[in-house]
Amino acid sequence: MKFFLDTANLEEIRAGAEFGLVDGVTTNPSLIAKEGRPMHEHIRAICDIVDGDISAEVVSTTAREMILEGRSLARIHPNVVVKCPLIPEGIKATRALSSEGVRVNVTLCFTPVQALLAAKAGAYIISPFIGRLDDIAASGMDLIRHIVQIYRNYGYPTKVLAASIRGPLHVLEVGLAGAHIATMPYKVFQSLFKHPLTDKGLAAFLADYQKVFQETTVG
Ligand code: E4P
Repeated sequence: MKFFLDTANLEEIRAGAEFGLVDGVTTNPSLIAKEGRPMHEHIRAICDIVDGDISAEVVSTTAREMILEGRSLARIHPNVVVKCPLIPEGIKATRALSSEGVRVNVTLCFTPVQALLAAKAGAYIISPFIGRLDDIAASGMDLIRHIVQIYRNYGYPTKVLAASIRGPLHVLEVGLAGAHIATMPYKVFQSLFKHPLTDKGLAAFLADYQKVFQETTVG
């Protein structure tokens, strides 16, 4: 299972990359705007930190413009994956860009049949948003399960990237459902490490050791 960071913040991306566990980064226009730097320059900076798929989203809404914008984003770096929204024009752009060899991440997916459209258009990645569905009392996890099942039924190569992840339980559940990738905010990535029994157990081990050897370092 791949872990992506869902942030455009370079400090968070650098901190996450230090673990060697970050396989990619997803951004969206809101996340880029938060950093206040032009899109191309910022995406290039992210590509310098993480050697993996880096999603950069188009901000136009007609297929013609999305195709031009997508080509230009793809030229930033070979690791760039162009993100197109799951609207009719976005699906047309996905079909065109994919046929040129540009990898497309189709975003803002909220139903399994939308995911089917993206796969048929040749998307490299589909991004179902689970947290935003949970927020309106629908099941984000059912969405992941249904997409994984449909793609398996027909052998679509499109990767399922669980997006809009809110906490560690989401990461566990999308893993069980068979998502290929989970993209998560840095604070969720940090939360994966945590368990009170780990901290309690380590404190007890070190205290027991110190009682006898009065030292904490090995060697
Ligand atoms: C996906 O790539 C999006 O950037 C993201 O997961 C949206 O998450 P949010 O619902 O927390 O904004």
